[in-house]
Amino acid sequence: MARPTRFHIHLDHLVNNFKTARRLHGGRLLAVIKANAYGHGDEACAHALQDVADGFAVASTEEALRLRQAGITGPIVLLEGVFSADEMHEVVAHHLTPVVHTFWQVEALQRTSFPVPAPVWVKVDTGMHRLGFQPDELHAVHARLRANAQVGEITVMTHFANADDPVESVLDEPLRRFREATQGLDVSTSLCNSGAILGHPAAHGDWARPGLMLYGIDPGVPGIAPREALQPVMRLVSEMTVIRTIAPGEAVGYGSLFRAARPTRVGVIPCGYADGYPRSAIQGTPVAVSGTLVPLIGRVSMDMITVDLTDAPHIQPGAPVELWGGQVAVSTVAQHAGTVAYELLCHARRASIQYHTAA
Ligand SMILES: Cc1ncc(COP(=O)(O)O)c(C=O)c1O
Repeated sequence: MARPTRFHIHLDHLVNNFKTARRLHGGRLLAVIKANAYGHGDEACAHALQDVADGFAVASTEEALRLRQAGITGPIVLLEGVFSADEMHEVVAHHLTPVVHTFWQVEALQRTSFPVPAPVWVKVDTGMHRLGFQPDELHAVHARLRANAQVGEITVMTHFANADDPVESVLDEPLRRFREATQGLDVSTSLCNSGAILGHPAAHGDWARPGLMLYGIDPGVPGIAPREALQPVMRLVSEMTVIRTIAPGEAVGYGSLFRAARPTRVGVIPCGYADGYPRSAIQGTPVAVSGTLVPLIGRVSMDMITVDLTDAPHIQPGAPVELWGGQVAVSTVAQHAGTVAYELLCHARRASIQYHTAA
């Protein structure tokens, strides 16, 4: 038997989640599939979404070229723009849509010749202070771009630092800055990631950029969305391989982190941090075995974890295991590991991915 640890990717759930995002936001939607579609496989996800999405968003031309080579023909927005002026050749050759967020990128764009007027996105910084023009620079940037006949539709975007904060007023100041910056400009707008789509309808614009929610993860902001509508796309599954009973006082795994206080049935699952399961997951992190939640014990190893089966005597070797997916939310595992679902998803081991198009 082959090692049973697999990431099952339910592409039908991805498409349903996209439709939920569309229903909640309206307008045009870019599916954010950077970082290998948050670990789900960018090519497969792009193919599954290409009939419903208005375009895709990635972090680099390398990611965009992978999609073009895979036959994806729709708009692809480079969220961080080009990293050097010579990348503009790729932008032209592969019909990519750059975000511009610095003056040298505007200059590089002005020096490039496009066969047909090209759409351009401009990023404005409304408080994240990572990338983007200052709000009072936007009119000048817009004027330069508008004066260039090679520039087609201009979309002004911003990215919120706190869209997943449940406090409704958290976006008041960034929204005020965005509206002031774009006032009087003939542009399209794009403001919302998943948290803003779900929790902050006042921030909706012409384009949305959902990422996390497409993969079925609720960013946790209470708001307008029917939560049950989001379906987890990724399931990390395995199988119980070995079960042994240890005596009180005996320890389990590296560093002897777990020490048995009673005769303890220890289950071994062949899934560890090399598979993407976080080494920082603390003891007590829930693992679903044959539908029963049992606690992680000991330290997560490179390719194994151990669980306490003492209170689940019905579980036998060969029992199906879900590390995350429908029974244990990836966000729950992330919480127990001191991180966020985004990071766990991105670490999915490519080689173990299996795709499913229907439930
Ligand atoms: C600029 C930008 N827009 C949209 C998104 C999607 O965000 P989320 O996954 O929270 O929906 C990201 C992700 O980091 C981003 O960087």
